[in-house]
Amino acid sequence: MASVEPNNAPLNESLATNRTTDAGAGEAITLRTLARMSREHKRFTCLTCYDATTARWLDRAGVEVLLVGDTAAEVILGHTATIHAPLDFMVEITAAVKRGAPRRVVMADMPFLSYQCEQADAIRNAGRFLTQGMADCVKLEVDRSFATLVEQMARAGIPVVAHVGSRPQQAKMKGGYFSAGRTAEDAVRIVADASAMEAAGASMLLVEACPPEVTQFIVERATIPVIGCGAGASCHGQVVVLQDILGMSDWQPAFAQPLAAVGQAIQAGATAFAELVRAGKLPGKTYRMEQAEQEKLRAMLRSGSDSHAAH
Ligand code: KIV
Repeated sequence: MASVEPNNAPLNESLATNRTTDAGAGEAITLRTLARMSREHKRFTCLTCYDATTARWLDRAGVEVLLVGDTAAEVILGHTATIHAPLDFMVEITAAVKRGAPRRVVMADMPFLSYQCEQADAIRNAGRFLTQGMADCVKLEVDRSFATLVEQMARAGIPVVAHVGSRPQQAKMKGGYFSAGRTAEDAVRIVADASAMEAAGASMLLVEACPPEVTQFIVERATIPVIGCGAGASCHGQVVVLQDILGMSDWQPAFAQPLAAVGQAIQAGATAFAELVRAGKLPGKTYRMEQAEQEKLRAMLRSGSDSHAAH
């Protein structure tokens, strides 16, 4: 990482306050693009994203799909489980991600109890992600008992990504986060859940924490894109939590090992800034006052003509 030397050179008078430049360059990706890529056996990437600045960097990296996951409850809000993601917060950050990467597919994770409720409320909540959140699709953790809901959402024009296999929103029922499909019976159930979701009109499938052999059966049967999360290489797309692969998490699943050391880079940058501050050195540029204005100021202060300002 580049070190920043303290510098007292003057700042330009006009303040540059816009940190949101050049959003939206590059090819626009849609659900149709992903379906085409899957048919052509071209793999696509999905990473979690919770803010506009990171979305811009993921856009520049060519990541096709940004998942505004309910892992935001853990990564952003510091909770110990995903069920704590608030609906309004998720809608708000979904819109932020779309503003940062308007030409990427933004997938909004529907939080706990925003769809495990009355069907009309679930559809209204999903609709909020598309209208207020500007998402391209919503993701629901489901089994076949959600088929009618998925069907109704698709009928309403809401593209659904059906998340099967391990379902973290069930953690309280299961007594923690666990992998899925590791017995033949459980695997059959998950393969059937995936088929039921496609039949109900899901636009994509997401399989979490299943053995690759099980995922392979799902991919072979599916005619829609299948995204894997710790579910083997046969999927059309792959997703992990961004902070895990950037080396920012204190713990990450075995299938999402760090590929960068961003956590350490943050620590190094913050430490360098803190050292400059403690040494009384300004690391950035300062605002400039013309010599004549400085002399005028001194004269005004000497003559006490500032006295009214003090009152
Ligand atoms: O919320 C999330 O980040 C997810 C992925 C890990 C699949 O659902």
